[in-house]
Amino acid sequence: MSIGIGIIGTGGISNSHVRGYQANSSLGKIVAVADIDGARAEEAASRWGVDFYTTDYREILARDDVDVVSVCTYNQAHRQPTVDALAAGKHVLCEKPMAATLDDAKAMAKAARDSGRILMIAIHSRYSPQTIAAKKIIDSGALGRVYYGETISTRRRWIGSGSFARKETAGGGAVVDIGVYSLDTALHLLGHPRPKRVSGTTCMAITKDPSAQVYGGHSWDVDRTNVEEFGAAWIRFENGLCITFKTSWAIHGNSMGRSFFLGEKGGVALGPLEYYGDQFGMMVNVIPQDLPPEEDRFVLETRDFLECVRDGRPSPIPPEQVVVTNVIMDALYRSAAADEEVEVTPWQDVL
Ligand SMILES: NC(=O)c1ccc[n+]([C@@H]2O[C@H](COP(=O)([O-])OP(=O)(O)OC[C@H]3O[C@@H](n4cnc5c(N)ncnc54)[C@H](O)[C@@H]3O)[C@@H](O)[C@H]2O)c1
Repeated sequence: MSIGIGIIGTGGISNSHVRGYQANSSLGKIVAVADIDGARAEEAASRWGVDFYTTDYREILARDDVDVVSVCTYNQAHRQPTVDALAAGKHVLCEKPMAATLDDAKAMAKAARDSGRILMIAIHSRYSPQTIAAKKIIDSGALGRVYYGETISTRRRWIGSGSFARKETAGGGAVVDIGVYSLDTALHLLGHPRPKRVSGTTCMAITKDPSAQVYGGHSWDVDRTNVEEFGAAWIRFENGLCITFKTSWAIHGNSMGRSFFLGEKGGVALGPLEYYGDQFGMMVNVIPQDLPPEEDRFVLETRDFLECVRDGRPSPIPPEQVVVTNVIMDALYRSAAADEEVEVTPWQDVL
């Protein structure tokens, strides 16, 4: 059986999904594409050799030859195509962050539960050899009870532009764009603990400065950028764990440090991966020597998605896990606005 694939949103990242699907052509074939920008849809369809394109994604959902869709729209437009696709009986691979708002993420999780279809959130960091190895170490129990961690994603200067720079399309800035990866990594590695309170802060500083240097990225329009470049939070969990979260796509500094997790019996740091513990009556550091090389994460991600659809297996990166990143980001933004620690909004009703 060849799985029929539709692509909704034909901007930058859709090319990576298509690269992944084309590398897994024995599992499925792209049969339709949609973008509200007709010229973009037409150009992408011709580049990818797909016959059908439209400006209305509902036409894709009405097609019998479409079994699954990739939702590659900007964040504020993740919810509607995902909910509609699931209701139409299609399986969905949706780009990260799961959604621009917690309300949207909850609606998507509920739609997945009600439909019984697969909703997979495309958080490609789950396919990093380092993340996989760190999870092996932590799942072995080598850390014992983990009581503290720091999870960090930094770009010294690579400010989101275009749809990433506007709240109306992205919903937020560095927090939702790159911060979501480190939030998901921490939750995934630590077995999905449940957050209870968050104290957060956000900032625009360099993005307000027209003379600031740009490198490694594209220039940004100071007047049009209305999302945070920096966000940080202190997150308390029900099991007593506390995590510091820091992210930015523009800082005056080389980095904000490495992510690490401290347990009663051992610790782990990422970038590079290192385990710290006591052994042989000494303190030891363990540095894995045989991590597999990085593979194209979009090829791995789309293969996992299509194989789960083919085999009727559950979502490899399910909404009930990733919705918690939205729970934390929502509380971070509310806390920053209120200038005080806040309770997270309950989300378990949609699981
Ligand atoms: N996984 C990654 O490494 C990675 C990298 C970049 C972006 N992303 C994510 O991918 C998503 C898209 O990013 P991008 O860089 O492609 O953005 P983009 O702005 O280049 O493309 C978004 C496209 O969606 C289209 N669109 C918006 N609403 C639509 C709708 N209702 N129906 C059909 N098309 C619609 C827009 O016209 C645009 O062409 C974002 O959520 C972003 O966070 C992920």
